Amino acid sequence: MSTDTTSQKLTKVNLEAEDFLPILGTDFVELYVGNAKQAAYYYQTAWGYQPVAYAGLETGRKDSTSYVLQQGKIRLVLTSPMSDGGDINRHINEHGDGVKFVSLWVDDAAKSFEETVKRGAKPYVEPYTIEDDNGKAVISGIHTYGETIHLFIERKDYEGPFLPGYNAWTKSYKTEDVGLKYIDHIVGNVGWNEMNKWVDFYAEVMGFVQLLSFDDKDISTEYTALMSKVMSNGNGRIKFPINEPAKGKKKSQIEEYIDFYNGSGVQHIALATDNIIETVTELQKRGIEFLNIPETYYDTVLDRVGEIDEDLAPLKELGILIDSDDEGYLLQIFTKPILDRPTMFFEIIQRKGAQSFGKGNFKALFEAIEREQTLRGTL
Ligand code: FE2
Repeated sequence: MSTDTTSQKLTKVNLEAEDFLPILGTDFVELYVGNAKQAAYYYQTAWGYQPVAYAGLETGRKDSTSYVLQQGKIRLVLTSPMSDGGDINRHINEHGDGVKFVSLWVDDAAKSFEETVKRGAKPYVEPYTIEDDNGKAVISGIHTYGETIHLFIERKDYEGPFLPGYNAWTKSYKTEDVGLKYIDHIVGNVGWNEMNKWVDFYAEVMGFVQLLSFDDKDISTEYTALMSKVMSNGNGRIKFPINEPAKGKKKSQIEEYIDFYNGSGVQHIALATDNIIETVTELQKRGIEFLNIPETYYDTVLDRVGEIDEDLAPLKELGILIDSDDEGYLLQIFTKPILDRPTMFFEIIQRKGAQSFGKGNFKALFEAIEREQTLRGTL
């Protein structure tokens, strides 16, 4: 009897422990960019995002301009500074265009801040309330790897297009979406021997659990190597793989990222689709460049992953990769870096049961990346 009570208590404690940071989903990803107006056109025209909201001179904001775009549940914010000096300029100067905020949608931004700071998070901004005619929102934030920030966004009392201070961005120019649905995962690159520090951060400070791990032997090629661990929140809606470089014969692509980004940061954002063939066909038509995959990859891929629903021919033509795990398979493809600095890129992913991240594709992927590094003279 008393044992039962004890175990019930323990279960309750464990549930509470897992629950200290309930996250409803990714709220938005904000990039600091050199020219938000042109970046917004790129995401609209090439990627099929829809205009949602705007803040700038016309809305009373003087120091920066932001455009908010959306496709499915994916919300992007693009922000540029309006004059010299200041933190946004410094950030762009140091890192190039890049992700500043990985913002998480929560029910209680004050509690999210309190619970994570209590567990060791470095505060970025204490909870504050912003209001306009459409209601109010509460925002707080903590630091994660590099200069990346997790904002906590509480918007249950807000009904405007995005957040207080933003106007609806009405634009007659519209593009067809390309079938992107939601953010599947966001990957961070961190420096040498820093992976476990950030794995511990997500476990201890944010209550995440590790999904699976693989060591550098699994994902090294002749030249490059990395180590990666995947952290997930309680309900599995947030998945953050963390990469660190590992020693290879030549420079790891993670090290190349760290060199050009001047530190740790977001390496790629994986966007989910229900039909990767249609999505990638459309993206290629609009000029998005993907990594070239050696044709020989397709000679043996089905021996490795088993039967799939799709014909192999269009996958091969588009360069879509296939991997499988105990629960099913997945289809994925990686863009080339979307900037001149070889830093950030996007992944398109369609899951057919598999809950993993394409470990079996890393070798094929890295060999493709190394061919690109050779062209840049950085391998
Ligand atoms: Fe990925």
